[in-house]
Amino acid sequence: MQFHGQTALVTGSTSGIGRETALLLAEQGAYVIVSGRDTTKGADTVTAIESAGGKAAFVAADLSDLESVRHLADAAGDVDVLVNNAGAFPFAATLDQSLDTFTLMLDTNVRGTYFLTQSVLRGMAARGGGAVVNVSSIAGLSGMVTTSVYGASKAAVDSFTRTWAVEFGRSGIRVNAVAPGHTYTENVVAGIGEEEFAKMGARVPLSRLGSAREIAEAIVFLASPRAAYITGVTLPVDGGFMALGLD
Ligand SMILES: NC(=O)c1ccc[n+]([C@@H]2O[C@H](COP(=O)([O-])OP(=O)(O)OC[C@H]3O[C@@H](n4cnc5c(N)ncnc54)[C@H](OP(=O)(O)O)[C@@H]3O)[C@@H](O)[C@H]2O)c1
Repeated sequence: MQFHGQTALVTGSTSGIGRETALLLAEQGAYVIVSGRDTTKGADTVTAIESAGGKAAFVAADLSDLESVRHLADAAGDVDVLVNNAGAFPFAATLDQSLDTFTLMLDTNVRGTYFLTQSVLRGMAARGGGAVVNVSSIAGLSGMVTTSVYGASKAAVDSFTRTWAVEFGRSGIRVNAVAPGHTYTENVVAGIGEEEFAKMGARVPLSRLGSAREIAEAIVFLASPRAAYITGVTLPVDGGFMALGLD
């Protein structure tokens, strides 16, 4: 129960990695604020947490909309653990990327994350502590076809991670990132295709796709007191993808 008495806000916890993270944090004692746009899925995550004996509430928010970001920050109140997991990923080759999807990724992954965290950091700094875990991507650390804008948005998140760690270390706040590799989640599989995604998994050193639970475990570790001397890092959780050279 290492998060007993703490409030954790997990963005994008209506599905996938965020949902698993919310479940794990609640299992370990946190009161979890579940967030996302989909109210039905949000209610479902809250029910799953409560059925397992945990405590949670849902706050609907669209991170691409600054008004909604402000509302989420206000509704969340004092937050001890912030997991910036929500992300938009309409992948496209550079020659096919539209202005709409470019703007959506920057507004959601960069601007929404930035201003939500700004609000939360203000409260954490005033109270003298907290932990932030950003969810970036191996696409921000390497070159991948179809991820020019998405990868840039996640590289920005990794940059925020380092800067915030330096800026808020003296306030007792740790800021880290997890960069997931190819992780089996419903929406990503729907976008890439089951067969193609399985092939991508087969090419990583551990020869398989990751699971949402495996990514969530790393997020929760970095948010926990067990990572008390870790700040400013981006941890790839990728089955060895980033270690791979020519093979
Ligand atoms: N799966 C992978 O292979 C992989 C690899 C690297 C990085 N990641 C990153 O991991 C994170 C989670 O992805 P996932 O694979 O778990 O996919 P997912 O199940 O689709 O999760 C994305 C979450 O973000 C929320 N979201 C999207 N746009 C939003 C917006 N405008 N406002 C608020 N919430 C929004 C979605 O909730 P609503 O639909 O309810 O709004 C959803 O809960 C993302 O940041 C993604 O970039 C995933």
